[in-house]
Amino acid sequence: MDVLQISSWSILSSNSSSVILPIMQGFTSLLLLGSAAFQSVFGLPGLSEQVRRDPHILKRAVDDYLTTEEPIALAQLLCNIGSGGCHSGGVANGLVIASPSTDSPDYFYHWTRDAALVFKSIVDRFANSYDASLQTEIQNYITAQAKLQTVSNPSGSFSDGTGLGEPKFNIDGSAFTGSWGRPQRDGPALRAIALIGYSKWLINNGYTSTASSVVWPIIANDLAYVAQYWNQTGFDLWEEVQGSSFFTVAAQHRSLVEGSALAKSLGKTTTSYDAIAPQILCFLQSFWSPSGGYALANINVNNGRTAKDANVILGSIHTFDPALGCDAATFQPCSDRALSSHKVVVDSFRSIYTLNSGISSGAAVAVGRYPEDSYYNGNPWYLNTLAAAEQLYDALYVWQTTGSITVTSTSLSFFQALVSGVTAGTYASSTDTYTNIYNAVFTYADGFVNIVSKYAATNGSLAEQYDRNSGVPLSARDLTWSYASLLTVAARRNGVVPAGWGSGAAATSVPGTCQATSIAGSYSVAPTPTFPASQTPATSGTSATTTYTKPTVTATAPTGTSCAQATAVAVTFQELKTTTYGQTVKVVGNIAALGNWDTSSAVALSASSYTASQPLWKGTVTLPVGQAIQYKYIVQNTDGSITWEADPNHSYTIAATCSTSVTKDIDTWQT
Ligand code: NOJ
Ligand code: NOJ
Repeated sequence: MDVLQISSWSILSSNSSSVILPIMQGFTSLLLLGSAAFQSVFGLPGLSEQVRRDPHILKRAVDDYLTTEEPIALAQLLCNIGSGGCHSGGVANGLVIASPSTDSPDYFYHWTRDAALVFKSIVDRFANSYDASLQTEIQNYITAQAKLQTVSNPSGSFSDGTGLGEPKFNIDGSAFTGSWGRPQRDGPALRAIALIGYSKWLINNGYTSTASSVVWPIIANDLAYVAQYWNQTGFDLWEEVQGSSFFTVAAQHRSLVEGSALAKSLGKTTTSYDAIAPQILCFLQSFWSPSGGYALANINVNNGRTAKDANVILGSIHTFDPALGCDAATFQPCSDRALSSHKVVVDSFRSIYTLNSGISSGAAVAVGRYPEDSYYNGNPWYLNTLAAAEQLYDALYVWQTTGSITVTSTSLSFFQALVSGVTAGTYASSTDTYTNIYNAVFTYADGFVNIVSKYAATNGSLAEQYDRNSGVPLSARDLTWSYASLLTVAARRNGVVPAGWGSGAAATSVPGTCQATSIAGSYSVAPTPTFPASQTPATSGTSATTTYTKPTVTATAPTGTSCAQATAVAVTFQELKTTTYGQTVKVVGNIAALGNWDTSSAVALSASSYTASQPLWKGTVTLPVGQAIQYKYIVQNTDGSITWEADPNHSYTIAATCSTSVTKDIDTWQT
């Protein structure tokens, strides 16, 4: 069977916040095929179904949605951070409101969990691409946490650590004293993970003393809390169930393993983390239900629920470590347990939402918290629908980097829903089965993002939920966590994965017998953080993140089709660049057909499709199959001078195909 390259991955540069929005919005409105606007304007109600079924159209629609939405999500996320965020008047420096909504629901508070997950997403983005303004936000957040840790509250006080389990605070940093589901024991673990992420960046860039003296004391308190209280019940991430929660326990395990590695590199004692982490992992195993084929969201509870819950998907994506492969003990995104759980959880929403009716079992649907949910009548959530996509992009990344996909009896039903007839086994990347599965999972993942794009507000704002019957956004508007989810899903789809947290066997080996041990911690007020100025990236030294190979998107030729493989392909380049009369856009690159970087041999593009709202330059160059190329766009000015677009070079590989022509995704001038 032959493999067709649909197109390269969209060029979502990590600094794509600089994308010129009016341009992108102008042309994206034409391409967002799944959007309600398109349907009403063009009167094509069946189009969404077409988008869903045709991987080419779907991929393009998702590319365009994410290109447009990512800068909006970043801007809106920053609006919700104090002080000075455009929606956070009165919010103290470094605190994060869950949403600007002050009524029905009132989310104008700082939640430890939401804020930590938001900053985890920001730190990952920052580590991948330095941004001084994000660094200021991170430092403000850290400074605010040092203070927040010490505030006595209804969960308890700082001196014995109990106060660290408080879920939410007033926007001035004072305790929230109303009744609430407390304590919530995921908060300290998640905050530690976010702060460890920034500490690793500091160390990798030569600022170890900042990590050690400024950030570590705050992390140490949170890790002490985990080591002391992990084995006590608390409220789950949805703030409803008192018991033991998968998401919480998975985050706690990660925090101690990653915390131990950081402590070691800072020369701190790791004894309690090393003693407790394996026990938490041991406990995590008890959430797995072999008969149900899914991880139970909550145990040590008797609430009449099925325990099918997006909790588990979130637990998996927030403990993703690309180097742990498809490890099942830690429920890595591509593990058979996590994939089977994904299916069970997603399926639990298929028949209960009107929105999902008529969608076949192998296609993406709207995903909520858990099927029995009645909060706002029980609806799909944007962040859970995006999490369902993110788990699959994580899996695709690992399969691609390890070069194989393993189907076990546990994950068989997940895979069979996508590729009928697949059987258990390990499929190397050279096989048709691998390609079929890879493409089907990719299309499935894109389907979840497409659902979000379809039911998101047309201005790009993301609320908490969308109506189970009509799809209209509801509950809290501009949910900070929704925006953070959009940023991580866009990164994962683009092959950008976070730095790992595990360190081999220490992260994944499960003790033979579990012990509910706990170690009483000591809690010390962290010194008020002062971050030295100009802690910019080291010019040499190791980067905090790996350099990633972007996964390739492939599509399989229809079964039974055979074709001669092309040896050269006419590749059409497309570039959005607003120009003035007399300027010409050209493409130049590292192979002869693209001028070998010599601007006088660059290939001129045509402005025949150029309009004010879509300033498109295009041109076709015949290139050899299998060749990995690097290229850039340049503008030749009327006086003959050349203006280069900014770094980095674009990369593209001309994949093996039966087709003799391919049109690349639209590039945008890099500034
Ligand atoms: C508010 C909580 O934040 C939410 O998760 C919960 O579902 C409702 N209260 C109802 O208990
Ligand atoms: C309700 C959600 O259930 C909970 O997870 C979240 O922390 C709060 N809302 C604030 O966004």
